[in-house]
Amino acid sequence: MLNATHLSIPLDRDGEEPIYRQLIRHIRMQIESGTLPAGTRLPASRDLARQLNVSRISVVNAYAELRSEGFLSAHAGRGTFVARDGNGAAPPEKTASNNAARVHEAPTTPDRSLREMMRMARKPGVISFSQGAPPPEFFPMSALRDALNAVLERDGAKALMYEMAEGYGPLRHAVRDYVSALGIQCSTDSVLITGGTQQALDLVVQALLSENDFLVTENPTYLGMIDIARTRRVQLQGIPMDDDGIRLDMLENFIIDHAPKLIYVMPTFQNPTGTVMPLHRRRQLLNLAHDYNVPVLEDSVYHELRFEGENLPPLKALDDYGGVIHASGFTKMMLPGIRIGYVICDGGQYERILRVKQAADISTPTLNQRAIHLMLERGMMAQQLERNNRELKRRLHVALEAAAKYLPPGTRWNVPEGGMYLWVELPKSGPNSAELYISAVEMGVSYAIGSVFYTTVSGSHRMRLNFGAHKPADIIEGFKRLGRAWRELACDYDEMEKSPLL
Ligand SMILES: Cc1ncc(COP(=O)(O)O)c(C=O)c1O
Repeated sequence: MLNATHLSIPLDRDGEEPIYRQLIRHIRMQIESGTLPAGTRLPASRDLARQLNVSRISVVNAYAELRSEGFLSAHAGRGTFVARDGNGAAPPEKTASNNAARVHEAPTTPDRSLREMMRMARKPGVISFSQGAPPPEFFPMSALRDALNAVLERDGAKALMYEMAEGYGPLRHAVRDYVSALGIQCSTDSVLITGGTQQALDLVVQALLSENDFLVTENPTYLGMIDIARTRRVQLQGIPMDDDGIRLDMLENFIIDHAPKLIYVMPTFQNPTGTVMPLHRRRQLLNLAHDYNVPVLEDSVYHELRFEGENLPPLKALDDYGGVIHASGFTKMMLPGIRIGYVICDGGQYERILRVKQAADISTPTLNQRAIHLMLERGMMAQQLERNNRELKRRLHVALEAAAKYLPPGTRWNVPEGGMYLWVELPKSGPNSAELYISAVEMGVSYAIGSVFYTTVSGSHRMRLNFGAHKPADIIEGFKRLGRAWRELACDYDEMEKSPLL
């Protein structure tokens, strides 16, 4: 077997360009200049990472991107090779356009490489378990069509005017009635309609935190909240979880030391872990937050997607002091693209959030608010939940069986009572989920890489699979492909690590 070549790569560790991009740039340059001729064997990722004193994921990502651009190729059991000559021949079409796009890129965030890998999954034929949306076959298409037509007929141009920033009055009433069935007693004045739950979270962060204030979350947490914290420039502190949710001892220590301005939690079917916070922990969390006077932002977007076990009250239903801000939406239950969510909170907080909402987009689209209102009035929500939850349960069982049958021995996963996600941990002895990703996509399956959900460097062997996203036959095929990709790479991985270096 060919020995791997030694790569000489000067890295700028203090610059803005992420290490993995520097690696890509240098290796590409060396190929194009002929320093690395076609057929050269590159060092195993672990060895190059050690030699350059960089993280292995940077090397894995760089190799993956260079492979997708056609500069490198990987051969099971033999290693990674330069795939083309640098004798002036133009790189493949897509490389040229990729390069042009990169020139204009904004500075990247550290997890950018992982997100880029996740985007690769949008190839036709890939069974993707990575998204956070319900599957399109769950959408109530004809009910939506009827509702839109009825609204336009009934309201005419009024349905296309600006709406009050607080939201369409009848929809706010309907939300008040809807959440009262979940145990939340509030007045219509406490309901603010938003552009999905995502906007609800963003508005709350903007209204209550200033730059560099601390926002506390569970660790791992919802990726969308990590994005919000980054773009709003607030400091994110993830607190580890146990089987019952956020660890209160660690939370209290953090509150004492750093006085955070907000605690963000997903008490029911936490994303990504699927954890449900039991009643006693809910009460303890509220007591703690009250003792230290820290508001709690509750994200309830998966609350109603329960197909097993006992219903628990949202935190807002247990809130005696008005310290909880409740955020949710009709997106996961009904229609993600219609973008209707809401915030429920009291007094001063409401006013501040409303001002930010007004500044953000004047109002949530009028037509969509009215259509969703009509669908609620017509009892669509109950029908949707009944049917979708039954189907989610069926798909979960298919996924659990497929996981047991096809995923590598030693893999662990949760068994959720609701929501849409399996939270999987691969055996530590094999490739981690970022390393597996490219092979998996090549094999025709994708997932969400677990480490992106952490606020710390963690979860390397974790992955999140949306078991609700596909019909049973595709779930089985997807898990089969995943197991096959892992076995091929594990084998490859073993051999690469054993092979001698120059
Ligand atoms: C926990 C959580 N909150 C909020 C959202 C955003 O939901 P929406 O589509 O209602 O904006 C998501 C979407 O994945 C989510 O998982």
